[in-house]
Amino acid sequence: MTQRPILVTGAQGQVGFELQRALALLGPVLALDRQACDLSDPAALKGLVIGHRPWAVVNAAAYTAVDKAETETARAEIINAVAPGALGEAAAAIDALVVHYSTDYVFDGVSGQPYRESDAPNPLNVYGRTKLMGERALAAANARHLIFRTSWVFGAHGDNFIKTMLRLAAEWTTLKVVSDQFGAPTPAALIADVTAQILGQYLRGRKETFPYGLYHLTAAGATSWRHYAAHVIDAAHAAGRPLRLTSDGLVPVPTVDYPLPARRPASSRLDCARLETTFGLCLPPWENGVDHVLAQLLAQSQ
Ligand SMILES: NC(=O)c1ccc[n+]([C@@H]2O[C@H](COP(=O)([O-])OP(=O)(O)OC[C@H]3O[C@@H](n4cnc5c(N)ncnc54)[C@H](OP(=O)(O)O)[C@@H]3O)[C@@H](O)[C@H]2O)c1
Repeated sequence: MTQRPILVTGAQGQVGFELQRALALLGPVLALDRQACDLSDPAALKGLVIGHRPWAVVNAAAYTAVDKAETETARAEIINAVAPGALGEAAAAIDALVVHYSTDYVFDGVSGQPYRESDAPNPLNVYGRTKLMGERALAAANARHLIFRTSWVFGAHGDNFIKTMLRLAAEWTTLKVVSDQFGAPTPAALIADVTAQILGQYLRGRKETFPYGLYHLTAAGATSWRHYAAHVIDAAHAAGRPLRLTSDGLVPVPTVDYPLPARRPASSRLDCARLETTFGLCLPPWENGVDHVLAQLLAQSQ
C-alpha cells in the first residue's frame, strides 16, 4: 500500500512555500498551487481532496488581499469562508486531519492585552470577517482539525513589508510609516516549522486524545510598523546595503493619516501561551526571524 501524503494548498504562498520544506520530514508532500487546487470551487475541491486521500490537509491558500476584499467580497467569502468547510467535509470523509490558518484580524484590536483564543472576535474588515467564518465552517464540519491564528507574516518567498521597505528605502530619504498599530511580525518559516512539529506529535500520539482546536501562533514580542521598519533599515545598513533612507528618516504617522479601504485593528497582539504549553514549544522573538530573512534577501541581491 502506498503511503498517504500530506496535501498542501496554496503552495506558492509565503507559508505554503515554507511548508513544502518543513513537512518533507514527515513523509510525502503533495503541494498544490492555485492552478492545481482552486479554493474558489468548493465542490471540486472536496472531490479533489477525497481523490488524493491525504492523511493531513494543510490549507495555506487564502484570499489575503485585505483592501481588495472590501470590494471583491463574494470571492473572498468563497475562498476564506466556504472552502475551509469543504476541506473539513472532505477530510471527515477520508479520516484526515485539517490544519488551517487564520488571522489576528478577527479581533477589533481595542484590548490593551494580547488576545487569547477565548476572547470574543469582532472583525473590523471583510477579510477578518471571512477568515472568522472559515474558522467556524471548518469547526462545524466534524473533521479533526487545528486552526492557527497568526499575524504580520513575512518570508524570503513572496511579497511582504520587509521587501517593500527595502525597495522604498533605496528610493526615498524620508518615509511615512504607521506608528499606532502593534503586532508580531511572524516568519512563514516559523509557522511551517511549528506546523511540522505539531503534525509530528500527532503522528506519534493517540488521535482520540490529541489536543485539537484553535491556537494562536506568532513570533514572541510585539512592535509597531514604524519600529519594524526601523529594525529592517538599520539591519540593512549594518549589512552594507546602500540605502538612501536611514531610520531617522522614518516619519511616524497615525492610522487616521494613512486611510486604506479596510480598517485595521490597533492591537494585533496574540497570546500564544496555549500553543507553547500544550505542545512544549518556545516561540522565538520576532527580531530573530526578521534578521534571518533579511540576511537571505540581502545575500540574494548581492
Ligand atoms: N500574510 C499575512 O500577513 C497573514 C497574517 C495573518 C494570517 N495570515 C494567514 O496565513 C495563511 C497563509 O498566508 P500567506 O501569507 O502565506 O498568504 P499568501 O502569501 O498571500 O499566499 C496565499 C496563497 O493562496 C493562494 N490562493 C489565492 N486564492 C486561491 C484560490 N482560489 N485557490 C487556491 N489558492 C489560492 C495564492 O495563490 P496565488 O499565488 O496564485 O495568488 C497564494 O499562493 C492564510 O490563511 C492567511 O489568511 C496571513
